[in-house]
Amino acid sequence: MCGIVGILGRGPVAEQLVDSLRRLEYRGYDSAGIATLEGACLARRRAEGKLRNLAGRLQAEPLIGQVGIGHTRWATHGRPTENNAHPHATERVAVVHNGIIENFRELREKLKKNGAVFETETDTEAVLHLVDGYLAAGIDPVEAVRATLSQLRGAFALGFIFAADDDILICARNGPPLAIGYGDGEMYLGSDAIALGPLTDTISYLEDGDWAVLTHDGATVYDHHNAVVQREVVKQSASASLVDKANYRHFMAKEIHEQPEVVGHTLARYVDMATERVSLPVDLPFDFREIKRVSIIACGTANYAGYIGKYWLERLGRLAVEIDIASEFRYREAPLGKGDLAIFISQSGETADTLAALRYAKQHGLHTLSIVNVTTSTIARESETMLQTLAGPEIGVASTKAFTCQLMVLATLAIAAGKVRGELSEEDEARLVHDLIEVPRLMSEALATEPQIDRLAREIAKSRDVLYLGRGTSYPLALEGALKLKEISYIHAEGYAAGELKHGPIALIDENMPVVVIAPYDRVFEKTVSNMQEVAARGGNIILMTDAKGAAEAAVEPLETIIMPDMAATFAALIYAVPVQLLAYHTAVVMGTDVDQPRNLAKSVTVE
Ligand code: AGP
Repeated sequence: MCGIVGILGRGPVAEQLVDSLRRLEYRGYDSAGIATLEGACLARRRAEGKLRNLAGRLQAEPLIGQVGIGHTRWATHGRPTENNAHPHATERVAVVHNGIIENFRELREKLKKNGAVFETETDTEAVLHLVDGYLAAGIDPVEAVRATLSQLRGAFALGFIFAADDDILICARNGPPLAIGYGDGEMYLGSDAIALGPLTDTISYLEDGDWAVLTHDGATVYDHHNAVVQREVVKQSASASLVDKANYRHFMAKEIHEQPEVVGHTLARYVDMATERVSLPVDLPFDFREIKRVSIIACGTANYAGYIGKYWLERLGRLAVEIDIASEFRYREAPLGKGDLAIFISQSGETADTLAALRYAKQHGLHTLSIVNVTTSTIARESETMLQTLAGPEIGVASTKAFTCQLMVLATLAIAAGKVRGELSEEDEARLVHDLIEVPRLMSEALATEPQIDRLAREIAKSRDVLYLGRGTSYPLALEGALKLKEISYIHAEGYAAGELKHGPIALIDENMPVVVIAPYDRVFEKTVSNMQEVAARGGNIILMTDAKGAAEAAVEPLETIIMPDMAATFAALIYAVPVQLLAYHTAVVMGTDVDQPRNLAKSVTVE
């Protein structure tokens, strides 16, 4: 999942390309590069690592061309070296690619036999040589690309510029998103509208299978049958300025601290505060009374939000709910009930695994509902119903505020389901909504534990492994805590259902293993206390996240107790998410890692 941009401009475009790439760095930051048309020659500047390296290279060796393409890479095929960095180019054509060409081996072999010389380890280079071969044979760029696309299998968003024509940029989409931007005598291309924010607010999106020929005056779009089609052009104000860190050291810190506000905004969209009733912003095209089974499908942190949602939908809505990892869902061939409901959760709305699962569910006649943060995304557009999280742009690769906003939407959905199914009375609804209204305030109180967690992080940072335990909704939160710590501090961590400890992981416990126990004082608290005793008896160091009552009843001597505010137990995961996130964040800061852009990761994962 890389980011691609392109500009057919009327002045030098290198600086604009880099600016647009900066807005796409969330898609990958292994390397970056641009190619521009300098007279009748294609020139490239590429650099390994973050975009700032490319910017430095351009300062030393500027490009002045008025037509160009750019790329920021998350390596799939080939190491993240400068040589493998896009754009790839011959003297006739340059290409940028997001996605995976699945039949690249077979294409590569065929092209090699015909004399093509491959210089990189990438799958993309096969596309380059295909187009180049046609151009060398005298075929024009449009026909060369058309012929090439018909031979590609896999997922791709592609952008091409040509040495022989300074008024053409060709792009194609099969899977990963692609937006076309309209300017005044200029045209633009980007992986999303955010990339084009400083350039234009007039955007159209290619649909799957589309390809388009851009000239300075406009775009001609073709569908997968090569028929000319019209795609809606919309006004979309993706902010021209990049979101900044305010006074925070990292985006992640800012996003953790924004939670009381954005979770509150999300809540306000889904409930009527005055009457304490759930009020969904859209009419659901299905009746919860007729749904026999709900499948919740997502990846990573969004999947753990779904896991917590499963507990709520089961308990409050008395619905049968399955939780699935998107990459497993569609290949498992599970029997699916026509007319049942599939819920997809995604911050970006572009996660390839989740999108593929959505399309699979649609094919099988399920109602599809997505909970997304980016409302212009493919998942948002392709779902039957879309429920928005109002987290605002989330820049840190580690998801924090999107997670808690997803939880808030799931909580209101579970109450709505319980109400419609006659499982919750009006009083129950009012009580539960009241509990949710308390969440932003309680989150602010939870944030006050930060100095204590900062100190604790210095201890955690000395560990090689960390275990997270919880029961009920604290179990998926334990999974999330472990993921968060792993991805930004690179410390190995595992999340377990506390009751499962004795079935294996207890063998790991010794005095070097911190065990984070997430245990609000609820109906399973006593059971968790027994599990803590099992840990304590083996010399494990417990870090207990609980409330005042839980701390008083814990009956063990934790290394540290982090006291959360008192609250109704049902939605405690929303509040306990805060110390879990802070612990990962501060540990990563102590470890000195790149918190917002941890190694090997990308914010939006648009390959399967
Ligand atoms: C979260 O911290 C991760 N970076 C990752 O697990 C993420 O939640 C996952 O890739 C799903 O992304 P999405 O919400 O954009 O679909």
